[in-house]
Parts: sequence; C-alpha cells; structure tokens
Amino acid sequence: MSGSMDRLFITDVSPRDGLQNQPTPVSTEAKAGLIRLLAQAGVASVEATSFVSPKAVPQMADAGQLLAQVQGELPDLRVSVLVPNLKGLERARAASAREIAVVLSATETMNRRNINMGLDEAVQVSEQTLQAAAAAGLRTRAYVAVAFDCPFEGAVPLDRVVSLAHRMRVAGAGEVVIADTIGAAAPGMVRERLQAILQAVPQQQLAAHFHDTRGLGAANAWAAIEAGVRRLDASAGGLGGCPFAPGAAGNVATEDLVLMAERSGLATGIDLDGLLRAIDHVEARLGRPLGGRSIAWLRRRRPAA
Ligand code: COA
Ligand code: ZN
Repeated sequence: MSGSMDRLFITDVSPRDGLQNQPTPVSTEAKAGLIRLLAQAGVASVEATSFVSPKAVPQMADAGQLLAQVQGELPDLRVSVLVPNLKGLERARAASAREIAVVLSATETMNRRNINMGLDEAVQVSEQTLQAAAAAGLRTRAYVAVAFDCPFEGAVPLDRVVSLAHRMRVAGAGEVVIADTIGAAAPGMVRERLQAILQAVPQQQLAAHFHDTRGLGAANAWAAIEAGVRRLDASAGGLGGCPFAPGAAGNVATEDLVLMAERSGLATGIDLDGLLRAIDHVEARLGRPLGGRSIAWLRRRRPAA
C-alpha cells in the first residue's frame, strides 16, 4: 500500500471547524494570518470559513471579507467555504468563492440542531446547493456529518450513511467527506464503513474527517488510509468542534497526521516546522496552549529560531 510516491491530501479545516467554536473573537486579520502560515507550510487546501447565520455562529460573521482577502493574497491555495443553504451559496459567490462545502448530517435531530431542517429537507437543500454551485462552475464538497454516532440519536445505521454519500455524489459533489463529527468512531468501524462507502463513491472523490475526542483520531485516520482513502481533513493544533454537537472535541491534529504519514511513506507536502509557526500564531491569538498528541515532541525537536 505504501511507497514513496504515495500521497496523502490534507485539507486543513482549522480556520472554520477550528475557530467556529471559540468564544474569544478572532480578528479577520488574525484568521488571514493563520491561513497564510498554513499555505507557507505547504498546506494546499484549507476550509477558510462558513457562510452561515451570524446569529448561529458569530465567529464566522466576517466570511465575505476574509475570503476576499485570502483569495486575493493566495491565488494558488485551494480555499473551500462551508455553506448550509442557497443563501449561503449566494453570499459565497458574491465573495468570489471557488469551492463550497454543504453540510448534511445523517440523522434527523442533528440536522435540526445544526441547520434547522429535518433530514429530508437537508438532503434536498444540499442537493440543490451542490447543483447550483456546480452550474456556477464552483468545486464542491459534501459533508456527511455524524456518520458514525449522533450525539442525539446514538449509533447511525451504515446503510443510511452509504445512501446519503451516494446521493451527494449523484448531486454532483466533487468530494464526499465522511465526518465523525463528535469523535465517536474506532478503527474497526472506520474500516467497515469506508469500505462500504467506497462501493458508492470513487476513491478519488472520498475524504474522511475525524475528531480526537476519545484519543482515536490518528488511529481512525490510519484505518481510513488502509481502507484506501487518500483525502483527510485535519486541523492545525487540533483546534475544532461543532457548537451544535454536544461533547465534540477538536479535530484530529494536522501535525499528528503529517508526522504519521511521513513516517509511513506517504507524502503530504506539509512542513512540520511551518505548521508549528501556524500553531504558535493561533495560540497567541486565543491565549491558550494548542496541539495534537505529538506537539510536545515536535517542539522539542524544533531547531532554535
Ligand atoms: N447566511 C446568513 N444568513 C442566513 C443564511 C446564511 N447562509 N441562511 C439564512 N440566513 C438568514 C435569513 O436571511 C434570515 O434572516 P432575517 O432574520 O434577517 O430575515 C434568518 O437567517 C433566518 O432564516 P431561515 O431560513 O429561517 O434560517 P434558520 O433560522 O432556519 O437557520 C441556518 C438556518 C442554516 C441559516 C442556521 O441554522 C445556521 O446558520 N446554521 C449554522 C450551522 C453551523 O455553522 N454549524 C457548524 C458547522 S457544521
Ligand atoms: Zn468537524
């Protein structure tokens, strides 16, 4: 499976999944600074922000301004933004977005809590949004959130996850992102689910998104890689969590995945020292220590500045 040319594509979601839940307001300039440092570290794809209701997520209220600034400064960076509905797509297009992600949850209650729609309506709205985005020439991703356990409904049936992933692909999603929103998965489940989903979504179009709530984020990411997945979301410093999913901790840390990949013969194109500079930047802005499981070791080995 490995081999020095094998590549792992990481989308860093720290500016969106990471910051959306932070009570401390972070300035647009500080967010742009994080994205610049990620790009300098070799991150090729980021999820920069979300065009959601500013009442629901105040931290993302500056989405239009941030996107314009980042795309102006970093024309080669792949920049995606989360949109929950057609209104979000309209706002994203007005800010010249080139890539959007819709967010469909696999249960009735999680959709209701997150985007105030039932499951059927959320499927329809996600399909319409994907179709409109594709028609406008945008790249698209579709999250299938709570694809393992839901904080409200418990274990989520696998056949439903496969069917939703398939519908998102048929609606035109360039990438389908299977998300363990609350960090409830374990490696055996990951292998089983992703193998089943790979029957419905081609490998090049499938991504996985893990949270490290129970300390299994890297193990789950490795199980996804062994199942054949080569696209993973992660967050610098392990920042992250959905404000509407109780008990969710941060995303699996980008630095943990880069370290794991490098040591396992998978190239990510991401430089760990550059990533540490991005993490230092966010720590200074939030005023608290961040970092995945490997952070203490990474900092000890860092050459003196
Ligand atoms: N961006 C900004 N405002 C939006 C919007 C969007 N994408 N979609 C709707 N709105 C506005 C409407 O224009 C309306 O404004 P008004 O009160 O000034 O008239 C208001 O929000 C209510 O619209 P409605 O369609 O009834 O939305 P809602 O109250 O049912 O909320 C969402 C639906 C999707 C907008 C809201 O639940 C949301 O933003 N959720 C964010 C979820 C999230 O970010 N989760 C974390 C990431 S997964
Ligand atoms: Zn997430």
